[in-house]
Amino acid sequence: MNYKTLINGAFVDAKEKLPVYNPSNNQIIAYVPNIHNENEINTIFENAHIAYLKFKDTPIKYRCDLLLKLADKLDEHKQELAQIISTEIAKGLKDSLIEVERSADYLRETVFEYQKLMQKPIIFDETVHHVKNKVATYYRIPVGVVLAICPFNYPINLLISKLAPALVSGNSLVYKPSTQGSLIGIRISELVHEVGFPKGVVNCLTTEARITGDLLVTNKYVKAISFTGGPKVGNHIAEITSKISLVLELGGKDPALVLDDADFELAANEIVKGAYGFSGQRCTAIKRVFVSHKNHDLLVNLINKKVDALTVGLPQQNPIITPLINSNSLKYNLSLVEDAIKKGAIVHQKIVYNEKNNLLHPLVIDNVTKEMRVAWEEPFGPILPIITYNSIQEAIDLINQSQYGLQACIFTTNYASIEQLALQIESGTININKSSSRGPDILPFFGVKDSGFGVQGIVDAILSMTTIKGIIINK
Ligand code: G3H
Repeated sequence: MNYKTLINGAFVDAKEKLPVYNPSNNQIIAYVPNIHNENEINTIFENAHIAYLKFKDTPIKYRCDLLLKLADKLDEHKQELAQIISTEIAKGLKDSLIEVERSADYLRETVFEYQKLMQKPIIFDETVHHVKNKVATYYRIPVGVVLAICPFNYPINLLISKLAPALVSGNSLVYKPSTQGSLIGIRISELVHEVGFPKGVVNCLTTEARITGDLLVTNKYVKAISFTGGPKVGNHIAEITSKISLVLELGGKDPALVLDDADFELAANEIVKGAYGFSGQRCTAIKRVFVSHKNHDLLVNLINKKVDALTVGLPQQNPIITPLINSNSLKYNLSLVEDAIKKGAIVHQKIVYNEKNNLLHPLVIDNVTKEMRVAWEEPFGPILPIITYNSIQEAIDLINQSQYGLQACIFTTNYASIEQLALQIESGTININKSSSRGPDILPFFGVKDSGFGVQGIVDAILSMTTIKGIIINK
């Protein structure tokens, strides 16, 4: 089936197409336009800029109402939307439904937080700041055209978390969905169109970013970029752009540090949930476990039991482990396992996989050392390395040697001195006694080192897509 996509108020096709696959059987399920002509791309951004010039001056209530209507549309169509996600990226149907609901909530919370923000412009005057003879008021204003580049793993939620702050504050938006994720991207553009966003304010640009990416990110009308993807591309974007607002979320290698005084049952539960949910295809998945020699067997036995009980299957059956996004991902995960085994790791489960449907059964890779690739690389798959430490300092040093620093978890029953220890870990957020995660969406979400740049979360995303304008009344 051929899809058209929303560009400048109309649904357009392109001569060239991008195939979209069903990861559960490697069959092509659809073709979407591959918009790659330089002039055409430049015109899309120019029209988005023209649309912004009008949209920025629309009343706040008008924009909020449009977003609230879109939230209602997501609710109304949630079964259908979940079905598209599930087919296109092989996410369990129930989890896909949760993602749609989370996205509708995201829209409503964005409206709420934006209204709060706009009711309180920043004022400097004599009464508060001893600024004499003047009242300086700073308002938040939109920046212009926002470019959103979205990953496959949360094709609605990570789109909405970029779309909502951009539009509520009066920007226009060009979004590039991941090709596996473009059916839902296009469907959202249809709903956006139905609720009545003005022509050119929202554009869904399906394109092969490997070829056209530089054109997109360096377009002169783009004033903010929100990118979620890998560090190679993210760092490249940072290098070739300038003087724009940049928010990059670039993956992670989140550690779970299990201390000797941990509640091991709780730690094992959280680790398995955090490592294997959606087959480990989350930037915040737990991707390495640190445990002392003393408690290694206790923890690993608990983890193994829970891993062996994980359900594996196709998305319609709602298992925890579903097919990986494509055959390259399957091959990559297997290569990490093979490398680890060659260098002395022990895999506790039988290695079971199926190339026809990209299913890889979950694995616990034990006795992992720093010589193994799986100690450092991000698998985005259901494989979990266990690293044994001699001292907490050794564990912290190994944790901090990673190129990544998104989130981390510490498991302990001693809350008294935990902040001191947590502060030594180089990551955006440290979760105590819980697996790492982006939500609740109101919380700031950010990474350090190769995990990212800039801050997301409902309020911070609005801030990143707006700037300030001051009016100073002199008396
Ligand atoms: O994959 C990256 C997502 O931002 C992670 O979100 O923690 O809600 O799974 P999550």
